[in-house]
Amino acid sequence: MTSHKTGCIILAAGQSKRLKSSVSKMFHDLAGRSVLGHVLHNLEQLALSEIIIVASPLTPTHPDYKHHKVAIQEEQLGTGHAAMTGMTQLSDDTSDVIIVCGDTPLLTIETLTKLFESKSDLALLCATLPDNQRDAPYGRIVFDGDNPCRITEYKDANTALRNSPLINSGVYKIRHNLLKKLLPLLSNINASSEYYLTDLVHIAIEHNATTQAINVDFNEVAGINTRAELEKVDAIIQGRLRATLMANGVTFQQPDTTRLSVDTQIGQDTIIEPCVIFKKNVIVENNVKIKSFCYLEDCTLRNGVSVGPHAHIRGGSVLDEGAEIGNFVELKATHLGKKAKAKHLTYLGDATIGEASNIGAGTITANYDGFFKHKTTIGERAHIGADTILVAPVSIGNDSITAAGSIITADVPMDALAIGRALQTNKQEWAKHYKAKMKAKKDALK
Ligand code: UD1
Ligand code: CA
Repeated sequence: MTSHKTGCIILAAGQSKRLKSSVSKMFHDLAGRSVLGHVLHNLEQLALSEIIIVASPLTPTHPDYKHHKVAIQEEQLGTGHAAMTGMTQLSDDTSDVIIVCGDTPLLTIETLTKLFESKSDLALLCATLPDNQRDAPYGRIVFDGDNPCRITEYKDANTALRNSPLINSGVYKIRHNLLKKLLPLLSNINASSEYYLTDLVHIAIEHNATTQAINVDFNEVAGINTRAELEKVDAIIQGRLRATLMANGVTFQQPDTTRLSVDTQIGQDTIIEPCVIFKKNVIVENNVKIKSFCYLEDCTLRNGVSVGPHAHIRGGSVLDEGAEIGNFVELKATHLGKKAKAKHLTYLGDATIGEASNIGAGTITANYDGFFKHKTTIGERAHIGADTILVAPVSIGNDSITAAGSIITADVPMDALAIGRALQTNKQEWAKHYKAKMKAKKDALK
């Protein structure tokens, strides 16, 4: 007995004309993952025998394509032609084929599973347009009873059909043999002079095939053709990410102002104030407070940490339990020990700071000599005075102190006080005499 194999073709070779971009719409970012990356992420969870990406000759290779077959569509002659191109790479022993538009990143695994499990010869995902988008230029589906019998592109539809809210999602499942038989029958006589994949539906009916439309939430099938649609899809993804985190016990104050990445992890009872940005690879544990205007990227904040407002944390930085970062503090590749603090106007790069140390306002690690980066190591319970410049490589011992305004160029032993600044001299009454002399000079000129 031969096994039943379902393969998949993703149509991703379009020219993205309506997006007005030098970058294909497939590679625009949505919460830290490309549009195509979202589509792949969802499809990779189905038991597909293979995935074929129909790609443009302008992007013959891309990191997103790895693990999958690629078919280059030399000329963009329409979705039907793109499917024909994908077929050149499809294994002969495939039983069913799922065809997905690469610009439809909101489909959920539950919906794709329904399509995957359909028993019809040709099944498609359709949706009902929301009232405020009734003139969106999606293909309209014509039904015969419950079964779809034709798809007419918006450009080709008459007014009555354009008023119909039932739209084609561009996602189909079809028997491989049927697809092989019908694809050569597509023509390009239509408003766009393109080979429309959508014509498969009425041709399938003419060949006595069974058809099925699976109705899903419009928010899942929304496609991206324009910047405005890109923004709408992005907002839906952000909303989904926030909803999952809220369900897990995270508080967002003014949720719409937070931006998350698909891989953002945040623990229970953490509070996110308005206007916080989470770029890729951020892990936040429980009971953390992230104050407004923080920008976090590639970092870990452990239980009970507090950061911001206006903190920038990146480069693999780790803040251990109870550490605190205040306003206008930047951390790059820095490890802050338990309960360590840097509360004001500070740059710490390539540094390790021991437990309970305090970094005074205005402290800077001078970590870059123009060629190489160097490390700063600060022990436990050290007290770095305000406006200290730590010229790396340098190490500061446990329990030591640096005097405010010091430039520290040599290692400081434990328990020591390091002073690296000019000695102060006070000139008695100097200011008084100076001011009197200058005033007399100015008065003489009147
Ligand atoms: C398509 C459908 C429309 C449906 C809508 C859903 C057709 C003719 N129309 O319209 O019924 O409502 O999707 O979003 O199929 N592509 C190629 N090569 C080409 C042309 C397109 O790979 O030569 C790819 C694009 O990159 C895109 C997908 O196919 O990912 C769909 O193409 P697009 O031009 O966006 O079709 P729509 O006009 O949105
Ligand atoms: Ca589209």
